[in-house]
Amino acid sequence: MKLLLAVVVLALTLNEGPNIDATLPPLLLASLLSQQRQALLHPGIPFLHPIPPLLQQVHSLLHPASPLLQQVQPLLHPVSPLLQQVQPLLYQEQTHLLNCQTDQSVQFRKALYEFSLNLYNALSDHENDHFVTSPFSIWMSLAALAEGAESEAQVQLFKVLGLPQQNCLRQKFYTIAMSLEIPGTDVSFIRNRGIIFDEGVHVKKQWRNFVKTSKLLEYVSAPIKDKPRLAEIMLQKAIGSKMLMPLQGNSVLIDSLTYRGVWTNSFDAEHVAMEPFYNDSGEQIGIVPMMRIRLRTRIAEIPLFKAKIVELPVGNDGRYTMLIGMGMEHNGAMRKLANLQHGAIISEVIKLLHLSPGPIEIAIPKITMSTDYNARVVLEQLGIRDIWTDPAATKHVSRPAALPGGLVQHVIISLTPEGITPPPPDNAVVGLLGNIVNEVGDDNFIANKPFMYVLIESRTHNVLFAGSYSDPNRA
Ligand SMILES: *[C@@H]1O[C@H](CO)[C@@H](O)[C@H](O)[C@H]1NC(C)=O
Repeated sequence: MKLLLAVVVLALTLNEGPNIDATLPPLLLASLLSQQRQALLHPGIPFLHPIPPLLQQVHSLLHPASPLLQQVQPLLHPVSPLLQQVQPLLYQEQTHLLNCQTDQSVQFRKALYEFSLNLYNALSDHENDHFVTSPFSIWMSLAALAEGAESEAQVQLFKVLGLPQQNCLRQKFYTIAMSLEIPGTDVSFIRNRGIIFDEGVHVKKQWRNFVKTSKLLEYVSAPIKDKPRLAEIMLQKAIGSKMLMPLQGNSVLIDSLTYRGVWTNSFDAEHVAMEPFYNDSGEQIGIVPMMRIRLRTRIAEIPLFKAKIVELPVGNDGRYTMLIGMGMEHNGAMRKLANLQHGAIISEVIKLLHLSPGPIEIAIPKITMSTDYNARVVLEQLGIRDIWTDPAATKHVSRPAALPGGLVQHVIISLTPEGITPPPPDNAVVGLLGNIVNEVGDDNFIANKPFMYVLIESRTHNVLFAGSYSDPNRA
């Protein structure tokens, strides 16, 4: 009965159509009202939520001649002492429900963006500005652990991940997260994200159900304690990397991403030539195969930081976008660019982009980049400390507590000349929409010195991976 009521209440909250008499069986409504009245009369009886919107809707939608109106009216009478008693409660519940109905896309983007940027900046120091990472999937893995975390560790995780306190809002974040990567023949994100428990660990049912439903993280078992060498080989295979695995805990978080995407507009594949590549002081430090395209696209210059950014649409209709940024002079502007974006939302950077008056010359190295690392150290720098060492922190995840030894990530991306076939019609400008046409002084973008790149989902502007290229002598 309660379940049925919940369904009806939900249908009512969602359904804005006027024909309520037809959707709500009168008997059910009568029974609901009488239960409600009981609850109002006898404070001991549990209250059925959400009553205020329900009653008000029923009241406003009932036919004036409906006999049910008489039942509803006394409950809504403003001077009813009963109503006054329960008002604060009603108000609280209503606020809660209204809050749960608000769109969370901006909040989600902000949370993911700040986490990504903090991780990116921390990683830059460790990897000498030459790496690629997907903070997005680390965010999802840690969110899954946060759901099974104990109070203090949970506070730490929620803070660093930008997750709201309210459960219903977090669920919205997860739904958005799971909607960002839509595989196709044009773009694919092959991810392997999981937590590997030692075979002696029992995964708790509630958390198991959560990860199964949310799909934030997969879980499997391996003989971490009994046969560490075998477990290590299993994990290396799972993420396609030979790196050493942090097997000191009861579990390990693993994560891999293989990105393949074709551009919306193909580079000139016939004329990829070896060209010099410079470091931030302007010294030649190697050569790279450089691929070129002439394209009318959006470009931004940030004079204060002597940096510029170009937008390259990816996939069919530019459903993803790669933003590439570099300094205009040899002055280490790339770092400054990262700092500029610090605290700013990527959409604000995107607002600076303006369509070039005509085609501009764009050159970027044809590269495959891969980075293997254990994110634990940088995550600790960001404030995530308890989950690795405090058994209380992950006790709702498993018995004994999960205590992951680390979080290893392997990301591999390729930037190649290929575009979608057939190519889009000439002059079709795709990708991020809504910018005004504006004059741009400079007419080319030649990435022959350190540059950074970010792949975003074009519709929502969420960051899926980011990297920095500075050394042609490294893989
Ligand atoms: C650039 O390369 C030169 C020669 O290898 C080196 O002396 C210089 O320190 C490098 N500058 C930067 C910013 O890495």
